[in-house]
Amino acid sequence: MIRKCLFPAAGYGTRFLPATKAMPKEMLPIVNKPLIQYGVEEAIEAGLHQIGIISGRGKRAIEDHFDISYELEHQISGTAKEALLNQIRNVIDKCTFSYTRQVEMHGLGHAILTGETLVGSEPFAVLLADDFCANDDDGVLKQMVDLFAIHQCSIVAIEEVPMDQTQNYGVIAGDEIEPGLYQVTEMVEKPAPENAPSNLAIIGRYILTPDIFDILRQTKPGRAGEIQITDAIAAQAKSGKVLAYKFKGRRFDCGAIEGFVEATNFVYENYYTHGNNYPNRKL
Ligand code: G1P
Repeated sequence: MIRKCLFPAAGYGTRFLPATKAMPKEMLPIVNKPLIQYGVEEAIEAGLHQIGIISGRGKRAIEDHFDISYELEHQISGTAKEALLNQIRNVIDKCTFSYTRQVEMHGLGHAILTGETLVGSEPFAVLLADDFCANDDDGVLKQMVDLFAIHQCSIVAIEEVPMDQTQNYGVIAGDEIEPGLYQVTEMVEKPAPENAPSNLAIIGRYILTPDIFDILRQTKPGRAGEIQITDAIAAQAKSGKVLAYKFKGRRFDCGAIEGFVEATNFVYENYYTHGNNYPNRKL
């Protein structure tokens, strides 16, 4: 059973400067809710209530967000605005939040290894909050947790991307064992289109078995001189089973301005104007 979800959140968010000069990029709102809260709600929906955040300098607003604000609650208590805080209050009540700091940035693999202290030796999920996923049915993590219950191995979420975009993603090759489910044979971090083994790109949802930590300790810096989680999972796939799952739903790359604006418009038009906050499923 999976109980924990790690949120790497130490990155600088330079693509959103100056907005992210003094504010964590994970706190950028899609309409009225920070990206990281959508992620935590997706984790709760999947049954993961132990939230581990890999934090860094300048990220204190995340801790404050997932805490009670007595002054604010006192001020609006008894007014119509009280309901606006109910959703975040519900999130805080359902989860525990633990933090560890990534002191130096050596890549996503390094960030996840930094989270070992929060995970211990059990399978866990990783959610990259800037990959915002919208779905009226089960959220992506819930879909993956259900698959884990059957297969008990590491799983990455994938989607097809245009071939000329492979250099922005980890890319997999594999044998399709069921429609939309691949046993991974190869994984490459950000390959040029001519070197990409397919157009199946990894998006920011992972379920990992804890042996990944020992593998990460052995993983040499790869693409961009950083320790890549893609390389570690590729090593795991060489000696055991790793699955890649074409998730159901729609993903927005909120690490880039265009994707962020698209997600904002999508949530505004499809949910907010109809009186629903996304996601409108029960947590
Ligand atoms: C990271 C991973 C990459 C993955 C991507 C998904 O890259 O290294 O394999 O495809 O997240 O968003 P980043 O976007 O942090 O450069």
